[in-house]
Amino acid sequence: TGDVTYDPGFGNTANCQSGITFIDGAEGILRYRGYPIEELAQHSGYLETSYLLGKGELPSTEQFEAFETRVLRHTHVHEDFRRLIASFPRSAHPMAIISSAVSALPGFYPEVFEVAGEDVEELATVLLLAKLPTIVAYVLRHTRGQRMPDAEPENGFVRDFLRMALHEVRDPEVPDEVVSAMDKLLLLHADHEQNCSTATVRNVGSAHANLFLSVAAGINALSGPLHGGANEAVLTMLEEIRDTHGDVNTFVNKVKDKSSDVRLMGFGHRVYKNYDPRAAIVKSAADEVLGSLGMSDDLLDLARELEDVALNDDYFVQRKLYPNVDFYTGLIYRAIGFPTSMFTPLFALGRMPGWIAQWREMMHDPSTRIARPRQVYTGPAMRGYVPMAER
Ligand code: CMC
Repeated sequence: TGDVTYDPGFGNTANCQSGITFIDGAEGILRYRGYPIEELAQHSGYLETSYLLGKGELPSTEQFEAFETRVLRHTHVHEDFRRLIASFPRSAHPMAIISSAVSALPGFYPEVFEVAGEDVEELATVLLLAKLPTIVAYVLRHTRGQRMPDAEPENGFVRDFLRMALHEVRDPEVPDEVVSAMDKLLLLHADHEQNCSTATVRNVGSAHANLFLSVAAGINALSGPLHGGANEAVLTMLEEIRDTHGDVNTFVNKVKDKSSDVRLMGFGHRVYKNYDPRAAIVKSAADEVLGSLGMSDDLLDLARELEDVALNDDYFVQRKLYPNVDFYTGLIYRAIGFPTSMFTPLFALGRMPGWIAQWREMMHDPSTRIARPRQVYTGPAMRGYVPMAER
């Protein structure tokens, strides 16, 4: 391959230096800015963790309040945004609408194109964190044919998101347990070093595309079923097992049959070769949420059974395939009242602070160069053009 190294999927190539997220895949360790994910999930919240990811340190009370106030001040969206979302067919996949809406944002804030610098980056950060929950909630409203309520920032960030998305559909009062479960799930998704969507955000940003448009590219990458789309695919898979296969063993055998091309969705990870630490937290959160809502879900029982069978099966053991973050999240989203098509948008909402922090880190790293991978050419050697009449 001459002076280039062939590394499909960049499995062994570091494309950047980063001080944000640490993963030890063999040990199942995940830390944001040095703090173990388990501690953050227990004690922190999504907005505080967003601050940590972006600034590198946990905020003081004053710093946090100023940040939260600034974000909450921007959760309203321009009236034209409602029209933009409403102009899509109600049957459109939410990820398509959300990607378009985020791409439209710099049209409303032209300064992000025209001015560079910390202040504009800070503004773009706050705008993205603030607007995405409202956009996601409105998209759900639209697909359900419901009106899009104004943001009421005094409710608090996560509670108001849930109210805008699900109010009238469920009880007017969003229960505290639901708010804290949602907050925890968003936090667990907040960053995951150089995954496909984050690498995409960096790639696009390396051409000096602005933060909004770089992040929109990340949203598109996230929609794929091998990435963020997996949480939706897990639910579809569980429903299919329940409705057509009947038992998990038949399905697992189908997965093991390589000619079938069927994967056990929510299992496996490029980096984790041990249990995904996020999956462990989500699994116990699923029990808690369903318990506190007084609900049971036959799909949660099925998921547990499926995990049990897979973890004791040579195929999965030999390949070190364990549940990843997507395996149990959908069951919580479903219990809270979100339809399956909204699961990947919820992942996008969670991942936003990571995309932003990684984009900003890249822009300030003097070693950054425009992303421009090489290739190994496998096409024909030089040949002469043959006129059409002679072919
Ligand atoms: N079900 C069945 N077999 C699998 C699975 C799975 N979920 N994942 C990997 N394998 C097999 C694969 O067939 C291959 O077998 P062999 O060596 O016999 O050819 C071996 O395990 C290695 O797999 P790979 O495709 O080389 O692994 P990768 O690192 O390229 O892919 C992955 C990682 C996450 C895309 C993959 O495990 C997968 O497709 N999982 C299902 C989708 C999923 O849950 N994605 C969410 C990932 S975590 C959160 C996120 O990023 O969004």
